[in-house]
Amino acid sequence: MPRAPGRIDIGGDRAISEALAEALLAAAHDDVVAESLTHPVHTYPARLHPATARALVEVVSERMPDGTALLDPFCGSGTTLVEARALGVVAVGVDLNPLAVRLARVKTWTPPVPRRRNAKDAGLRIAAEVLMSGKEARRAGFSAAPMRAPEGFDPNARQRRIGKWFAPHVRRELEAIATAIDDVRHDDPEVAEVLTIALSAVLYKVSSRKSDTDPTWVERHVPRGAAARWFGERVSMIVAGIQDLAVGRMPPTVVHEADARTLGTLGLPRIGAVVTSPPYPGTYDYADQHRLRFDFLGIRHRAFDEGELGTRRGFASNSLEAARRWKESQIAWLDALAGVMVPGAWAAFVIGDSMAGVRPMYADDDLRAALDDRLAVVAWASQQRPILGALERTAFGERGKREHVIVVERRPDPRP
Ligand SMILES: C[S@@+](CC[C@H](N)C(=O)[O-])C[C@H]1O[C@@H](n2cnc3c(N)ncnc32)[C@H](O)[C@@H]1O
Repeated sequence: MPRAPGRIDIGGDRAISEALAEALLAAAHDDVVAESLTHPVHTYPARLHPATARALVEVVSERMPDGTALLDPFCGSGTTLVEARALGVVAVGVDLNPLAVRLARVKTWTPPVPRRRNAKDAGLRIAAEVLMSGKEARRAGFSAAPMRAPEGFDPNARQRRIGKWFAPHVRRELEAIATAIDDVRHDDPEVAEVLTIALSAVLYKVSSRKSDTDPTWVERHVPRGAAARWFGERVSMIVAGIQDLAVGRMPPTVVHEADARTLGTLGLPRIGAVVTSPPYPGTYDYADQHRLRFDFLGIRHRAFDEGELGTRRGFASNSLEAARRWKESQIAWLDALAGVMVPGAWAAFVIGDSMAGVRPMYADDDLRAALDDRLAVVAWASQQRPILGALERTAFGERGKREHVIVVERRPDPRP
């Protein structure tokens, strides 16, 4: 997450655009907010920097009318929602990625102390049991526990998809942890969710997948017992973060698993502010990046495979068609967003120029072109980002590649 500071240009309302520039700069200077609360519990590609999210929530929430909520329609791992909660701002999130939704729910779950203790105790008990059974497994005459079979998943197909990614001893520990979490889920689904996210957080670290964004198979030597130990440590880390976030009484943060183009159908509260970072076209494939987690944990993801916006795979297969669909989808989600915002509310968008296939995409131009009469630009700040390689240098030319924060205001509806 640390970022090199590049030149920043600003425009529109002077005071606001300066605040937006500060929000961008915060990402380069901060090494405290990013490690605070529940932010560090799980990796998530293209996360908003928590310090930027905090600054933007402060900017847009000042104008929120009473009784309204802040919305992040592409909430991903929930960075904005965590920061809103920390600032005492009621927030609601939407994302089509089922893992993101579960992660964001756990990161904003702030139950009373005894419930937090339940989560920690359950996690540490499971870690200890799995460690113990690993030791027993090395004794003669021990028969290994059967592999877990998540409901609705063909065990052979599951095995084909995940088999090569884990050493046998690691796989045994992971399956034992997952089976124990299934048992907890019967009595306490909330606690089971915390444990599932802890397991998801360590899954790639003990696999042969190089990283979230790089699916290359690599040899990885994971000591016996490490998966169970790291799982236990991660549960403790989540619970500590939840504890820091749980200040004061607030209604629970609601996170919907849904397409941002359908905001009008979700029964959202009145939206008085928005902070969001929509996908950067042609840059990521969240569905592919999480596939091993989906397969291991038994998470259904068809709607996400079909509805994820701006995917790299889409641009790789037909960049002209993907660019057309991208523009169409921006118009659709901005239209849905304007439909749920109250007049006078502000929305802050964090967007970035990107290479989509071989074409440069200028995120600020594309967003402005997709705004309808109900959303008017108030202020913006754009920061130069490092150019990666010769292709980008040629494609972006003099203008360079930039990251932008744009604030728009929801105009009043025209009188009938
Ligand atoms: C740049 S990321 C947001 C990251 C987030 N701000 C965070 O800090 O974790 C963009 C998000 O858009 C989501 N997304 C992609 N297509 C979507 C769609 N049609 N509806 C809702 N969310 C979608 C992705 O799952 C991803 O989480």
